[in-house]
Amino acid sequence: MSPDSPRIVVTRALPPAALEPLHSVGQVWVSPHDRPLSVAELHQAVDGASAIISMLNDKIDDDVLDAAGPNLRIVANTAVGYDNLDVPAITHRGVLATNTPGVLVDATADLTMALLLDVTRRVSEGDRLVRSGAAWSWDISFMLGSGLQGKQLGIIGMGHIGQAVAARAAAFGMDVAHHSRRPVEAGGSRRLPLDELLATSDVVSLHCPLTAQTRHLIDAEALRSMKGSAYLVNTARGPIVDEAALAAALAGGEIAGAALDVYENEPEVHDGLRALPNVVLAPHLGSATVETRTRMAELAVENVVATLLGKDAPTPISV
Ligand code: DGY
Repeated sequence: MSPDSPRIVVTRALPPAALEPLHSVGQVWVSPHDRPLSVAELHQAVDGASAIISMLNDKIDDDVLDAAGPNLRIVANTAVGYDNLDVPAITHRGVLATNTPGVLVDATADLTMALLLDVTRRVSEGDRLVRSGAAWSWDISFMLGSGLQGKQLGIIGMGHIGQAVAARAAAFGMDVAHHSRRPVEAGGSRRLPLDELLATSDVVSLHCPLTAQTRHLIDAEALRSMKGSAYLVNTARGPIVDEAALAAALAGGEIAGAALDVYENEPEVHDGLRALPNVVLAPHLGSATVETRTRMAELAVENVVATLLGKDAPTPISV
């Protein structure tokens, strides 16, 4: 590879086999750190880059684009969500932005069901009890949870992941309703206005992207409008929920519980949530299977290779 061949920056180590195709189109720099790059490190790393393979915790804004300079042709985000990218700033410079839709649908839907079952059946709470060594014994009224059959799951955001959750929940006997911006072909699921969905659902599960419109969509008022027996599940993006309002609603018994995979100021978690027994807290594991993460890396690489060869990238972000 000649020294003036395109510089490709990968901000976090990805499976080496997935990165292999990059070596035929440019010089590859992979972060040596087992943590996200700091802002200063990111600025330094992208200097002169033609392609950046970013992770969801890399904020790609005007400053990063300035640091990269005029060679930059693509920012390939290794995630379906792209709220970490300033897409207008990227496209304004004639740079392509891509993401990894499709390949993480099943993994994220599976984790949503795992969290939903965990919080409604108190699995993590029971695990903590057993590990604590505290006395317990089977009892007819011991640690009762809430069954799913016939209960309404209200899905907010009926894209591919929302639909995959709907199919799984239907198999558990749940009655699925959804709220989405556009009507979608969604099996037997009814489309409801947001206020009706919140007021009637036994479990509300979030699957919409984080945008200016969805930031704090679940605020104090939304939580107040939910049933006292309802649960909230969030495997989408943390800032869709006002975490302080959620902690207060849970502490005040306004809803029965919550299961969260994502946080407003990730990786920090509101102290009020950590203190509550009826909250399941996962560390952003939605797409965290070997198969899915490998496929995400491969798709990010496919986007870069196609772009640097002057071909159409498979999954551009359309604005
Ligand atoms: C995504 O791709 O947006 C997921 O949050 C990654 O786990």
